[in-house]
Amino acid sequence: MKLRTINNADVKGKRVIIRVDFNTPIKDGVVSDNTRIKAALPTIKYLLDNGASLIVMTHLGRPKGEKKTEFSLSPVRDEFEKLLGKKVILAPDVITKEVDSLVANLKPGDVLMLENIRYYKEEEKNDPAFAKKLASYADIYVNDAFGTAHRAHASTEGIAHYLPSYAGFLIEKEVKFMAPLLTDPAHPFVAIIGGSKVSSKISVLESLSATCDTIVIGGGMAYTFLKKLGKEVGKSLVEDDYLETAGKFLQKAKERGVKVILPKDHICATEFSESAKAIYVDSEDIPADLMALDIGNKTVQEIKDAIKDAGTICWNGPVGVFEFDTFAKGTEEVALAVANSKATTVVGGGDSVAAVNKFHLADKLSHVSTGGGASLEFLEGKCLPGIAALEE
Ligand code: 3PG
Repeated sequence: MKLRTINNADVKGKRVIIRVDFNTPIKDGVVSDNTRIKAALPTIKYLLDNGASLIVMTHLGRPKGEKKTEFSLSPVRDEFEKLLGKKVILAPDVITKEVDSLVANLKPGDVLMLENIRYYKEEEKNDPAFAKKLASYADIYVNDAFGTAHRAHASTEGIAHYLPSYAGFLIEKEVKFMAPLLTDPAHPFVAIIGGSKVSSKISVLESLSATCDTIVIGGGMAYTFLKKLGKEVGKSLVEDDYLETAGKFLQKAKERGVKVILPKDHICATEFSESAKAIYVDSEDIPADLMALDIGNKTVQEIKDAIKDAGTICWNGPVGVFEFDTFAKGTEEVALAVANSKATTVVGGGDSVAAVNKFHLADKLSHVSTGGGASLEFLEGKCLPGIAALEE
């Protein structure tokens, strides 16, 4: 996958319209996690340092085409301005006359942020007239919104048809680390896939099993696989309508020579609750009155052994209910082992990223993806429209 990157663009004296993904959590009117804003700063600073003026577009939440003040970018602008260390003008709208004149007055080094792009339903419909209007603001389009690259929207895909278009450094980095996982990872390649549902992770399991040597299946979804293998899973989460799918996956992995690691021991509870007492079950089989909420020590050790000499590790999804402290140990141990590995380590997916942040390990990983749904779709081998539009 070869992208047109901003290193190849002459931006001096140009107006650049840039799509970022500043869809960040807001708590009490303040951005509570600024990771995504920080991740786009290298591109933004590069463009400003090289003499461009910027029109910044992002969505926040899902206002569904309505101008609802609770979805205003005001708190995002404040945090962005603070991190960038220079003034960011927040436009009162996206495509009104007032915005036209703010754009017309931009000078090199100026930063104008349009209001929430999803205030217009034309955005998600990828309406060509809306995309063309956005394109009319600038000479060049840059996309650095990896987190939204799986959406074919006007600001992520449509606009690229009307302007010279380039990938920012964040998209370039995401692709640099994620693409080899599906094509030529350094071996041994170990994929650790967790999360609660087989239904949302089966495509990733299938896609990665084409290139990996070992797949660890953890989290709630492991119990559908264990049940398929004839184990007792007690009250653990099971998707009965995915038992056959799980069986077919295990068969295919075997044919491909991929080793599959499933939980061998478990930390269980009688109920799904933060205050539930942890009960260790030293067996693959779980008593009828218990549900598994984390992996046990033996399983952790098996995962550690598997990743000891790995050349590449991809981790997507926690291996236990790490939001509950009592059931976070398995995920923490896995996170630590991945972070301490010499392999190229790539973590993607909202929950595993939250786990990495909770245990303060992000700096020790080769790459922590800023995408949730986008990382998942990328790893599934799907074409992401926002990235396809930037390919050479
Ligand atoms: C995300 O948070 O995953 C992205 O910003 C995409 O948001 P969306 O799922 O509302 O399109």
